[in-house]
Amino acid sequence: MSAKPITENTVKHFLQFKDFTRAEYEHLFERTRFIKQKFKAYQQYWPLQDRTLVMIFEKASTRTRLSFEAGMQQLGGSAIYLNTRDSQLGRGEPVEDAGQVISRMSDLVMIRTFEQSIIERFASHSRVPVINGLTNEYHPCQILADIYTYIEQRGSIQGKTVAWIGDSNNMCNTWLQAAEILDFNVHVSTPPGYEVEAERAGLFGADHYEEFADPMEAARGADLVTTDVWTSMGFEAENEERLKDFADWQVDADMMRIAAKDALFMHCLPAHRGEEVSAEVIDGPQSVVWDEAENRLHVQKALMEYLLLGKVV
Ligand code: CP
Ligand code: NVA
Repeated sequence: MSAKPITENTVKHFLQFKDFTRAEYEHLFERTRFIKQKFKAYQQYWPLQDRTLVMIFEKASTRTRLSFEAGMQQLGGSAIYLNTRDSQLGRGEPVEDAGQVISRMSDLVMIRTFEQSIIERFASHSRVPVINGLTNEYHPCQILADIYTYIEQRGSIQGKTVAWIGDSNNMCNTWLQAAEILDFNVHVSTPPGYEVEAERAGLFGADHYEEFADPMEAARGADLVTTDVWTSMGFEAENEERLKDFADWQVDADMMRIAAKDALFMHCLPAHRGEEVSAEVIDGPQSVVWDEAENRLHVQKALMEYLLLGKVV
């Protein structure tokens, strides 16, 4: 007889942005400020001493691995890296069995994988919280960092307009979920054939986003302009076609000029200068991509603290 799955009520996961409420995000942002300050002042903060994070990667990563591994160490715990290539995960062990076993030996699991259904199956058999470190559908840790970065630079994001230019990928879907939870608007412009799929994005409705055929119109007056690679991991076979289809969806200086005067530019990285963004923009004065990348570390430390210790005040 197979083991009974862990029910949703027994453990809290972060599998997509809408898993948390606005109040929970407010708490996370407050804790991020505290944790970041401690880090900057070289003050030890070890609330997760003796806790172990397991990080499972089925796709490549620089920022996600580094920020989770460094973050867990900085909180007093330790992190173990597993990948598909040299674990049984790549040899067909059922995800459900992996969830049972890995969660009996650790306190927290982060997974980067392909379909969202994989992480959901793992989580439903995990005794410990599971964090989405990117799936084909969502990238909630990145949007957590992006919104924290916006707040740090400009204050509340409520009521603001974010222009999403390019592919309706995992980043786009997560921005759309975040807009519903935190009450801002997203202006989306994708090439024909790459439009938002509301069901896949996991949206409650269509109140918080608008689609534009012309990327310049999407960017007009926006408070934040953001984009991502034209070809996400797992879709490499479409690369040649996408290079042609997305050619008019580059964020360039003209697009930043049509946005609000104090608009920011963000990109989750890695970026391809000359494709989705011009070098002038990503390396220019409106770009906050380095703060955005650094903030992965701080927001995820707050997230791990919350998932393991609850609301620390
Ligand atoms: N932005 C992001 O998730 O980067 P990595 O793929 O390097 O982890
Ligand atoms: N959309 C990109 C994000 C990489 C961090 C991808 O999934 O490859």
